[in-house]
Amino acid sequence: MQIQGSGALVTGGASGLGLATARRLAAAGATVTIIDLPSSKGAEIAEELGGVFAPADVTNPDEVAAAVAAAQAAAPLRIVVNCAGIAPPAKVLDRDGNPADLAGFERIVRINLVGTFNVISQASAVISKNEPLDGGDRGVIVNTASVAAFDGQIGQPAYSASKGGVHAMTLPIARELARYGIRVCTIAPGIMETPMLAGLPQAAQDSLGEQVPYPARLGRPDEYASLVQQIVENGYLNGETIRLDGAIRMAPK
Ligand SMILES: NC(=O)c1ccc[n+]([C@@H]2O[C@H](COP(=O)([O-])OP(=O)(O)OC[C@H]3O[C@@H](n4cnc5c(N)ncnc54)[C@H](O)[C@@H]3O)[C@@H](O)[C@H]2O)c1
Repeated sequence: MQIQGSGALVTGGASGLGLATARRLAAAGATVTIIDLPSSKGAEIAEELGGVFAPADVTNPDEVAAAVAAAQAAAPLRIVVNCAGIAPPAKVLDRDGNPADLAGFERIVRINLVGTFNVISQASAVISKNEPLDGGDRGVIVNTASVAAFDGQIGQPAYSASKGGVHAMTLPIARELARYGIRVCTIAPGIMETPMLAGLPQAAQDSLGEQVPYPARLGRPDEYASLVQQIVENGYLNGETIRLDGAIRMAPK
């Protein structure tokens, strides 16, 4: 699939991995629509990239439908990258050993998993009706899980469940959308150098980097974006979750 001339929708595109992806896809000739929260820097970034900002909460079907329509109006939609997500800690028991508040678990799963499904569902309804390219390709969807889907740490039951869900739904969605010529893959990043991690003290970031077998550093957002580009361009990648993690396997804490 060629990026040049395609419409691309990037959720969470105002920051971190989504921002690096929006920049790379725009540089490769896509018309990029950024979905992010109204409070984000989405408008500024869309202007920089000559794209569109469609403020939306990924969990809201009406807002996402409007954002998908805006993307399709700008250029035929062929590329969707789901990067919107949150990663607050949420344990099973609170500090006093009492059951944790269920709302915390539900919020993380709702944004990371239900939000990803919502965007896939709304976007594929539009992509499946677009004219196929030569060879039958209509589009490609890239989701973002995490290594926490496989080796989640203490404090990550909700995050791990949400990302495990993103991994688990990749194959059935790829199978369903195959008849429309839409491929679906997921990237499971390790520890990436984004604002999500920037809140940690430098010493903590350095220590996390040293735990990576090779290269012993945090992953760079453009290394994620580069893998997105490869998934879009390599027409035989489908139904797969790819770890992007320098061989790290997370310890219990
Ligand atoms: N940074 C890492 O180390 C790392 C590792 C593994 C997986 N991930 C995943 O990668 C994705 C991107 O993470 P990042 O590090 O770039 O984070 P980030 O915080 O820099 O960016 C996330 C973006 O998502 C947006 N967002 C949050 N909730 C939203 C909602 N309900 N609707 C629309 N937009 C929303 C935020 O406004 C923000 O712009 C996330 O899904 C995260 O879980 C990150």
